[in-house]
Amino acid sequence: MIVPFISIIIGIFLTIYTVDSITLNCTMPVPNTCNFYTDCLEKKFHCGNKGYPLGIGLKYCEKFSENAHLFSSSGKEWLSKTKLCLQDSLVPIYENDSITCSEIKDEALSSHANCYVSNGICLLPSSDWVALFETIDFRDFFGTLPFVKFFEVL
Ligand SMILES: *[C@@H]1O[C@H](CO)[C@@H](O)[C@H](O)[C@H]1NC(C)=O
Ligand SMILES: *[C@@H]1O[C@H](CO)[C@@H](O)[C@H](O)[C@H]1NC(C)=O
Repeated sequence: MIVPFISIIIGIFLTIYTVDSITLNCTMPVPNTCNFYTDCLEKKFHCGNKGYPLGIGLKYCEKFSENAHLFSSSGKEWLSKTKLCLQDSLVPIYENDSITCSEIKDEALSSHANCYVSNGICLLPSSDWVALFETIDFRDFFGTLPFVKFFEVL
């Protein structure tokens, strides 16, 4: 009797407590969250596990969070800003009702290099570059335009 009651209380508490810290409005991704990919992009377009929303967007959002401890404090800030930049640049894509999964991937990938650079990747200490190379699986980007662009900007 008491146990379900307690779990309901905990459930309500968690709902109230976490409600501010995830993206609820898909036009306004919340910093330091990744649920935009699942709750907005994938929910709307159903691109599957290999599509951009889950296969790349969510994967890197989570990898950036998991590997944040490998980065310096300026690197951590860069990660956080870059995560938000990538999601912000997906909002117009999210709002496009006629876009296909493969177009989502192309458009999204082309925003990667811009977000990396505009948030100051070039100013990061070399230890952060090492951490970044450990975080990114270049097979995900190989042969894509942003891959080429990424190395053009270096
Ligand atoms: C999301 O935010 C935008 C911009 O502030 C607003 O115009 C829109 O109504 C909001 N949508 C929902 C579902 O709250
Ligand atoms: C939606 O995406 C399609 C395909 O990329 C593009 O041709 C069209 O211009 C986009 N529409 C808007 C409103 O951005």
